[in-house]
Amino acid sequence: EKAGYKHFMQKEIFEQPRAIVDTLRSVVDLNREVLQVPELNLDAGLIGKIKKIYLVACGTSYHACLVGKYMLEGVCRVPVEVDLASEFRYRDPLLGEDALLIVVSQSGETADTRAALKEGMEKGAHCRAIVNVVGSSLARMAQGVLYTHAGPEIGVASTKAFTTQVVAFYLLALYWARTDGTLNQAGFSKYLKELLTLPRKLEEVLDRADVLRDWARHFRKVDHFLYLGRGILYPIALEGALKLKEISYVHAEGYAAGEMKHGPIALIDENMPVLVLAQKGDLYEKMLSNVQEVRARGGRVLAVVEGEPDPRLGEEAWQFTVPEAGKWLAPVVFSVPLQLLAYYVADLRGTDVDQPRNLAKSVTVE
Ligand code: F6R
Repeated sequence: EKAGYKHFMQKEIFEQPRAIVDTLRSVVDLNREVLQVPELNLDAGLIGKIKKIYLVACGTSYHACLVGKYMLEGVCRVPVEVDLASEFRYRDPLLGEDALLIVVSQSGETADTRAALKEGMEKGAHCRAIVNVVGSSLARMAQGVLYTHAGPEIGVASTKAFTTQVVAFYLLALYWARTDGTLNQAGFSKYLKELLTLPRKLEEVLDRADVLRDWARHFRKVDHFLYLGRGILYPIALEGALKLKEISYVHAEGYAAGEMKHGPIALIDENMPVLVLAQKGDLYEKMLSNVQEVRARGGRVLAVVEGEPDPRLGEEAWQFTVPEAGKWLAPVVFSVPLQLLAYYVADLRGTDVDQPRNLAKSVTVE
């Protein structure tokens, strides 16, 4: 059932191109270039009434929500607030009938996320769910569902569920913006094309998994890592660090690169490698100056970089390139090398990759 792979997590990482194709095929009508999301139960009338969107989840699904905020605010220009379910449920959030609450969950059974959805329903918000498991509690409780089609995820660490959640947010943003007219058909087609080429780009990254195995071999004894991202890759830094923590038990922190000088830079020395996510575009030069700051303090830099390697990021051996996937889909291509790095570090350290200590796949109690 592991289809020749050593672990479910590894298999699930390699299944991502397929999972993404399945997720987009479920809602995209390629001939007419339209999105059909009847189960989501979100029509133009409702979209017109919504003043604010709340995205709520736990763990990795929460990181997908953080990515979703960048997309929905950037593409649809609608205000979005993101919350951890365990905070949202107890903070008496201010929401009513002009609010849309979207809870996000792989399992559809997470206790805090269920409680958050219940809170939203009681307050009269419109409540929807992005869920992987059909017929799960959240799918049944919500007033509409957008399914990710990751297929069963067995490894405790979420991989393909995460990237399909990000794709689901992209689909939601396109649907919303096309429905309310923010995006015209030409703009919509352009975004759709970027999505259709994404699976091939992931294959290209997966074909070079060995490079990340080499990185893991080199850094497997290190006990602390810092992951830095900016903009829409900031949540990917958080997610990359979470992956490393949970399966290899190596301490890793994800940070917004611009926050470095507000504290974490004090940690930098040769024993704390810094992994930077470098997306070309507006924030690239700023990331290069963060790299300079790290190197000036003797820190070792590993870079995942979009497009071509760049000597300003350090030695080429410590640069892993990912294909350009567009502003909003970059989080997906940047996630994969971080999943692979965490996987190989854990495997080399000999931890139980699919069943890490103290963790459960579905957290049905608080
Ligand atoms: C991390 C991980 C957890 C889950 C979290 C929410 O790899 O798997 O952080 O993301 O427990 O689970 P779901 O998405 O099932 O609600």
